[in-house]
Amino acid sequence: MSSAARRRKGGEVESDYIKYLKYKNTGFQVSASDKTLVWWPTKDADRAYAHAEVTKDDGKNFTVRLEDNTEKSQPKNEKTYLGVNPPKFDGVEDMGELGYLSEPAVLHNLKKRYDAGLFHTYSGLFLVVVNPYKRLPVYTPEIIDMYRGRPRDKVAPHIFAISDGAYRAMLNTRQNQSMLITGESGAGKTENTKKVIQYLTAIAGRAEGGLLEQQLLEFNPILEAFGNAKTTKNNNSSRFGKFIELQFNAGGQITGANTFIYLLEKSRVTAQGAGERNFHIFYQILSKAMPEELKQKLKLTKPEDYFFLNQNACYTVDDMDDAKEFDHMLKAFDILNINEEERLAIFQTISAILHLGNLPFIDVNSETAGLKDEVELNIAASCWACRPPG
Ligand SMILES: Nc1ncnc2c1ncn2[C@@H]1O[C@H](COP(=O)(O)OP(=O)(O)OP(=O)(O)O)[C@@H](O)[C@H]1O
Ligand SMILES: [Mg+2]
Repeated sequence: MSSAARRRKGGEVESDYIKYLKYKNTGFQVSASDKTLVWWPTKDADRAYAHAEVTKDDGKNFTVRLEDNTEKSQPKNEKTYLGVNPPKFDGVEDMGELGYLSEPAVLHNLKKRYDAGLFHTYSGLFLVVVNPYKRLPVYTPEIIDMYRGRPRDKVAPHIFAISDGAYRAMLNTRQNQSMLITGESGAGKTENTKKVIQYLTAIAGRAEGGLLEQQLLEFNPILEAFGNAKTTKNNNSSRFGKFIELQFNAGGQITGANTFIYLLEKSRVTAQGAGERNFHIFYQILSKAMPEELKQKLKLTKPEDYFFLNQNACYTVDDMDDAKEFDHMLKAFDILNINEEERLAIFQTISAILHLGNLPFIDVNSETAGLKDEVELNIAASCWACRPPG
């Protein structure tokens, strides 16, 4: 039985769509009497703005009474006079509808919606997605069906509505379409990019379970293993930018894809900040999912033994199992037809980097460094199938 169906059992009919995507105004609301309210910046750690009551306003200057009853005056202009919208605007789906459109008005609306469990809101052409930090059933096949072919203003804000809009615009105008996914680290760019691909493969795929669709959905574990790392802001932070190009035929079916990668943070390979890790792949090849025989061949032991991994003693990530992720990546290798020989070459390359990090440098004299021994150098050289110099 599907989870949606299970929830419906027992007469509790509240679809995931209504629950997580539609704002419910919490009943009758009295507007704030005849007071005129504005937003006033605070220095509080948990809020950027608070309400203040306008007590004088001559058009040029205005005076407000703050929560602590002190009064403040300011010249009146659109930057200082940040009107509070009436409560009927609370939770609007498109912030373009707000009478007063200012930073505090936008933040207030996003918070109202987020507190009600809704994390998608439009701001004109943009969709603002606030990270829910929990898996919610809003990306299910049932929800995909609700968005398929529906105009944006007929359905609640969602990444699927934006994806559907781009797809329909491509079919109607026969022009390329772009989506820009941006935000600070940990905002949810990678997660939402995957949802766009999930949606487009569902509505524009050739056949259920087709190889190309599967490849599109599954190439991420590989990119993430080699390009993502734990940082202090995000346990799975992408340390590169990417441009994904999807190609469609005249009938609107997906026919191919390209991914262009920009600016990988290479410095992370040799050193990481406090509380951060190297790229996931290094820990994955040292996990229990890596075949023992291969580990021995590549002289791999445990993360604690490698200088490139042990400088901060940060080895694990909450809620992430390196062995499971490695298995996931191997499945992705299967789907993308990366053969045994290529896999071995990849693991050899990664292992050699770890061995090179352990070269035992010594001071020969004040101007020259040398190696205490060549054990690690020889292992690295054999991983790369080359002879060490000398
Ligand atoms: N829509 C979502 N539903 C559930 N969890 C989410 C969602 N979006 C983000 N998250 C959570 O937040 C974490 C960070 O998101 P994500 O990796 O997409 O951020 P990012 O914007 O790509 O950051 P970076 O710039 O560091 O790569 C995810 O690992 C996941 O736990
Ligand atoms: Mg990312």
